Amino acid sequence: MQPATLHEPRHTHGQLLNQILEEHQHKEGNLLPILHAVQDHIGYIPENLIAPIAQAINRSSAEIFGVISFYKHFRTQACGDIHIEFCQAEACQARGSKEVEQAVKEMLHTEWPNATLEPVYCLGLCAQGPAVAVNQQPLARITLEKIKAKIQGVATCKG
Ligand code: FES
Repeated sequence: MQPATLHEPRHTHGQLLNQILEEHQHKEGNLLPILHAVQDHIGYIPENLIAPIAQAINRSSAEIFGVISFYKHFRTQACGDIHIEFCQAEACQARGSKEVEQAVKEMLHTEWPNATLEPVYCLGLCAQGPAVAVNQQPLARITLEKIKAKIQGVATCKG
């Protein structure tokens, strides 16, 4: 099978997964080879493929997530894709989240076109707010500079 190019349309991911499962599904110790194959071909392991993988090899989705998060090599988002969850709750607002959020919104239009901003209502870091999570990694006492540094790390993520 020829490797697919990175960022190919999502609708082909299912076809690719079927080919990978066909090759590995009935082999012993197939989870890691399947995860490696998916990431090698797509560039990351899309979260919507985890349930079909789990079902195909008779494991739970939680187990698959556990393995993915245990090995630093695996990632569930493409390098460069940035998802910022921004806490909108009162404790963070009282600590100045709105000003930082406005600055982040301006960056979305200029420096970070591949970033998305999602409002969330508490990340459990209220005493250390304002808080965000960048690709599910929490950041406390945020400033625009802190977020920029984190995003730079995401944009240059390596295998
Ligand atoms: S209020 Fe923002 S993290 Fe809880």
